[in-house]
Amino acid sequence: MASSLNQSMLIIFVVGVFCLFFATPSIAELPRFTHHLQPQQSLHLLVVGDWGRKGTHNQSLVAHQMGIAGEKLNIDFVISTGDNFYEDGLKGVDDPAFYESFVDIYTAPSLQKTWYSVLGNHDYRGDVEAELSPTLRQKDSRWLCLRSFILDGEIVEFFFVDTTPFVEEYFTDPKEHTYDWDGVLPRGAYLSELMKDVDSALARSKAKWKVVVGHHTINSAGHHGNTEELKHLLVPILEANDVDAYINGHDHCLQHIIDKNSGIHFLTSGGGSKAWKSDVKPWNREELKLYYDGQGFMSMQITKNDINIIFYDVYGKILHTWTISKDHNVAAWI
Ligand SMILES: *[C@@H]1O[C@H](CO)[C@@H](O)[C@H](O)[C@H]1NC(C)=O
Repeated sequence: MASSLNQSMLIIFVVGVFCLFFATPSIAELPRFTHHLQPQQSLHLLVVGDWGRKGTHNQSLVAHQMGIAGEKLNIDFVISTGDNFYEDGLKGVDDPAFYESFVDIYTAPSLQKTWYSVLGNHDYRGDVEAELSPTLRQKDSRWLCLRSFILDGEIVEFFFVDTTPFVEEYFTDPKEHTYDWDGVLPRGAYLSELMKDVDSALARSKAKWKVVVGHHTINSAGHHGNTEELKHLLVPILEANDVDAYINGHDHCLQHIIDKNSGIHFLTSGGGSKAWKSDVKPWNREELKLYYDGQGFMSMQITKNDINIIFYDVYGKILHTWTISKDHNVAAWI
């Protein structure tokens, strides 16, 4: 009797120690990918969002210009800011929309690189597991879509964040839409775990540049405007960890806002297909560097010292460029 009691106490003790050392600190780390730099130590990429409309609404024209810009810049990869498949995501892994809106549209040789993609609210109206499924990668090896993950590009780290579950309205007032919340509920735990993971990954990052990517706007003069949930929950994490830029889609426009308090660059690239003409709210002119209400995309060229961004319209015309610099010497002193 006594020995069996001792035995069970020993088991409890061992299990307890195990939990303490292995389970508790296993703050489920975000999946991580690495992109090694070209010999010239720079990284070139395109950013497009809100695109999958089977080539309509100028999606094909934007795709064509992305091919040209991609070739000129010799891009390493593409980032998609979500709303990849309209109107309601993918119906399953065999949905022909994957070909009609992605594979058969972005056919230029320069675009045959990995597409690091997040989900948008329209993707959440379909079969989310299908859009995330590795089966799609067998159909087209470029496709890489996860809810939240990290891309380590040596001088820069990209933190991709699943922003749709932050938006309260999709849960409380979904209107005629049905969202696929499998894997997200209970929402509170999902969000707090995600914020903890993003915060700790940002804090640990030794990259020169930290860039966060999500579907939803944070600061935007566009149709949807600011996403208050992200302003309350994500912005403090971005500010505390010296994030340089936040890239999003959701508003179907091209936009560059520099927050005058934090200095964070808010870059909207949501012009992959249907655009919303003249749907713009007033915004502080000092902060708003570009608002373009037509279709297009963005490029980034990143070196240790600079990030050069360019916005292009549907004809490939350059609408706006900006260079974000970090002073070498100042950094060296710290
Ligand atoms: C395609 O782009 C051109 C140039 O911006 C614009 O005039 C036209 O309305 C666009 N078409 C559609 C269907 O959005």
